[in-house]
Amino acid sequence: MPETATLQVQGKTYTLPIVIGTENEVAVDISKLRAESGVITLDDGYGNTGSCRSAITFIDGEKGILRYRGIPIERIAEHSTFPEAAWLLIYGELPTAEQLECWSDLLSRHEMLHEGLYKHYDGFPSQSHPMAILSAMINAASCYTPEIIKMESPETFQSAAARLLSKTRTIAAAAYKASIGQPLVYPKPHLDYCANFLHMMFSIPFRDYEPDPEIVDALQLILVLHADHEQNCSTSTVRMVASSGANLFASCAAGVCALWGPLHGGANAAVIEMLQYIHESGMSVKDYVAKVKDKTSHIKLMGFGHRVYKNYDPRARIIKQAADRVLNKLQINDPMLDLARALEEAALSDSYFQEKKLYPNVDFYSGIIMRAIGIPLEMFTVMFAIGRMPGWIANWKEVWEGQTRIYRPRQVYTGPALREYVSIGQRRLVPIPGLSGEVAVSGACR
Ligand code: SDX
Repeated sequence: MPETATLQVQGKTYTLPIVIGTENEVAVDISKLRAESGVITLDDGYGNTGSCRSAITFIDGEKGILRYRGIPIERIAEHSTFPEAAWLLIYGELPTAEQLECWSDLLSRHEMLHEGLYKHYDGFPSQSHPMAILSAMINAASCYTPEIIKMESPETFQSAAARLLSKTRTIAAAAYKASIGQPLVYPKPHLDYCANFLHMMFSIPFRDYEPDPEIVDALQLILVLHADHEQNCSTSTVRMVASSGANLFASCAAGVCALWGPLHGGANAAVIEMLQYIHESGMSVKDYVAKVKDKTSHIKLMGFGHRVYKNYDPRARIIKQAADRVLNKLQINDPMLDLARALEEAALSDSYFQEKKLYPNVDFYSGIIMRAIGIPLEMFTVMFAIGRMPGWIANWKEVWEGQTRIYRPRQVYTGPALREYVSIGQRRLVPIPGLSGEVAVSGACR
């Protein structure tokens, strides 16, 4: 007899099915609740709501566990290249040698942009944020392959996935080059995914960038660790857009926009800005932590806290160890690393953070490694987007394969009750909150 839950609302009792996940997570299926009771649920920020069934990634936030298709992130970080991790997330199994070779060839074949796309970069102002460019150019790239819009077969999907995964890297590097006024650099097919990106970022017409293998490995690790993470804000956005039948490129371009926010993918840059502020202001770590604990400061400890992890983010642990190793091997002495360590120690020994179960997340140390690689601050969130692309593609595929109805959440309405239309001569002025001066009172717009 399948397990059920009972819900009592306004004197009536409703029986709801229970869904049990692979790792024995328990969910109450409320999909029929409104039809049976007229009642909906409310969950600000979806903190307690499962939006879908998914077989891609599993997180146990209490234990600090993260697995891609059942494989612990620690093993994947140790053994996988980014293309291999991408195949695992998209297709569910680690690729054979032949599959990996074919996949890598496909990525190489699609690394170029149509020449017409390069012309778009002349139209972006030099100070354009690369996340705006990345989102715009992903959609623009789909215009050159209309079959992607229709997406009718597994072969078309694989071609689209390879194009998107490969071109995201090229688009990102070109955005950086355009922002510093340097000529755009074409990819080199003999270079692997990460080395090719670094080449496109840092080579100049008269001198090719020769990446240190340590730097290539560090970039590979960063991308692998960011590759997927259940139904986070940007991945849920991709699924939301995909659920309307939108194509892979449009859905992932939307994911880029969601990731941009400082509470999500923008946090890696915000962490470095926070560390630089502390370093340059001469403020002690103790004083900064005191500011964070003072609610009136509205200051958050960036790179700390997580909706799901109430323990150390396993990715942060891996990146912290790698930061040490990479900076030592590259003989870089970055004061930000020591400061980050001191900040972490101060926070983790403070009851405010302990009681709220706030630990370092993936963004706390990732910026330190990206600085060591030579990635400029404004490109940090773009790196997160490049890394997260396989997860977005894998989630889009689950929707495309028919596992999700169109997303259409309900709401609890809190606006005015029924009222009459008022002719313009009868209306009274209602000042606009937050606007001051004559705009608010007389309504005169400047
Ligand atoms: C990512 O979802 C994912 O999986 C995301 C991600 C992925 O791979 O996709 O892991 C990537 O986005 C990591 C998170 C990066 N963002 C940051 O580092 C920004 C700083 N962190 C916070 O803004 C916050 O912790 C969030 C946004 C990450 C989570 O927010 P929640 O779950 O909505 O938690 P909350 O804001 O309700 O906080 C609960 C309490 C509050 O205090 P009270 O009102 O209960 O007194 O904890 C406090 C918060 O003020 N708090 C913090 C804090 N984070 C939470 N206080 C100080 N500093 C912080 N960083």
